[in-house]
Amino acid sequence: MKLPKPVSYPTVKWNEGYLAVDNDPGFPDDLNLSENLDVIIAYHPHFNSLNKRLLKDAEEADYGESYKTNVRAEMSDWKTVTPTIHLVLEWINTLIRERYNSYLSVEDAEYALAFLDAWFARYGIDDYTKVHNHYIHAQFGFVYFVNAPKGSSPLVFTTSNTKIKAEEGKMVIFPGCMYHHVPKNKCKDRIVLSGNLGLIKRNNKILKDPASY
Ligand SMILES: [Fe+2]
Repeated sequence: MKLPKPVSYPTVKWNEGYLAVDNDPGFPDDLNLSENLDVIIAYHPHFNSLNKRLLKDAEEADYGESYKTNVRAEMSDWKTVTPTIHLVLEWINTLIRERYNSYLSVEDAEYALAFLDAWFARYGIDDYTKVHNHYIHAQFGFVYFVNAPKGSSPLVFTTSNTKIKAEEGKMVIFPGCMYHHVPKNKCKDRIVLSGNLGLIKRNNKILKDPASY
């Protein structure tokens, strides 16, 4: 079979020590298809006490990414981790293992699912998040509602226009390819903890330098 000619060829180059594909070649015969995707929704059984501790962490966090990314709200550093956040990540790990057990139970797999990043986002009045997804960076993204006063915007899965109501203690775990956004918020202090999980090589030597081949 003859392969279609790409619009432009992607370049592969060393980027911050990693081999990275520079652009999407954009094949002219590409298709745009819809798929059924699973979203995990769960409520933490002790969210009152958990959220009290997370609120304290959110208060003390450094909001160095505010209004710089797709999140047009206050945003903490990409790698915000505290002992309480660590507990949340362990809960997420359990939820994903319960749902996708057959895949994740392969203990000797060369690649493993790992937390890539986590951050707080604090929305004031009229703050929002642009439509985006986490493809190819992440296998899963998550949003956990820490504080959701009246007027808190939902998380919206854009393609299906599915609105996930902001409720304290609710966890939403979704495939990284899903488009999502947050419409303009109508209150102060809508606070979420968000992050990503991706596949990393177990020995953690992800093509770090040419000599590793
Ligand atoms: Fe996102």
